[in-house]
Amino acid sequence: MTITTDDRSLAFARRLATTPAPEQRRENILADPGFGSHFTDHMVAIDWTEEAGWHDARLQPYGPIALQPASAVLHYGQEVFEGLKAYRHDDGSIWTFRPEKNAERLRSSARRLALPELGTADFLASLSELVVADRHWVPAGAERSLYLRPFIIANETFIGVRPAHAASYFVIASPAGPYFESGVRPVSIWISTEHARTARGGTGDAKCGGNYAASLLPQQEAMRNGCAQVLFADAETGTRVDEAGSMNLFAVTRDGALITPAASGSILEGITRDSVIQLARDQQIRVDERDVFVDELCDGLATGEITEIFATGTAAAITPIGQLKSPAGSWGSVDAATGPVTRALRDELTGIQHGRVEDRHGWLYRLDA
Ligand code: COI
Repeated sequence: MTITTDDRSLAFARRLATTPAPEQRRENILADPGFGSHFTDHMVAIDWTEEAGWHDARLQPYGPIALQPASAVLHYGQEVFEGLKAYRHDDGSIWTFRPEKNAERLRSSARRLALPELGTADFLASLSELVVADRHWVPAGAERSLYLRPFIIANETFIGVRPAHAASYFVIASPAGPYFESGVRPVSIWISTEHARTARGGTGDAKCGGNYAASLLPQQEAMRNGCAQVLFADAETGTRVDEAGSMNLFAVTRDGALITPAASGSILEGITRDSVIQLARDQQIRVDERDVFVDELCDGLATGEITEIFATGTAAAITPIGQLKSPAGSWGSVDAATGPVTRALRDELTGIQHGRVEDRHGWLYRLDA
């Protein structure tokens, strides 16, 4: 993928860590990284004020952020974030996947949360800065990557309710294995009947921390019921599938088509979702983006009308869903094998990301060049 650098305005100052993790500790972490618990030696930070715009771009050692107790983000949740992965290819080079889409989505989320927008070229440069400095933290292997977490917080010291006049952008990085503890195996999903994720006109299509905070109580209920994640229905009728807490949802019908909820403003428009739709259409698989009903999935699993369900996201890639559960019952089985459509799409997507399948759409972007 080629990106013009026309909108690049920032030069990064570099302060390297004086006490990086010892090699043996790093290797131990990379051998079994889990998800989201370990962080690399550095981070990127860029400040923003109304008067100066984005400024003071820097690579610095990973460490605590100093915030005033009155900092706006701590009170009103004015925050947005992104998630991407850096993949080490067999020749040692390091790539990421469709990052211009993350840059675009971060800007759209920032607009919704009245935060400042960062240009694509500066966003890409921030990823490269961090990944080059922490290149030894990018694991090799099919289910391994370095998860990159860019985020913007409002950090004006002011507790009146209005958009903050100061903000900061950060990128941190965390070596990652499979998102779910069970690895890449079918998971159970809990259908939330009491809580919705978002409503029309809300922040459903923005990637903001508040959406995820609101998903945690139902997520707790899901875990109490032996499920890995929660599935939300629409707020108005409670009948249409919205999305799972951190993933978009797809189902395969008996006649081999894919169905997925249309991007109506209440779901996050996942980059993995978009890529899966493209890859499926490349294989002449029909993809219907439309209302998908909770009952349609549950009944369909029982009758065989629905043959596979899977979820997509950067962290989760393509995760098979074996079972749906709700207070009313359960459908499917967590012991079911991963279906052939799910497996083929997963193999192709992760193959492209890891440089083992031809990148015919030009989705990869090199970070260490
Ligand atoms: C991702 O898939 O990157 C996400 O942001 C989901 C989750 C880890 C919050």
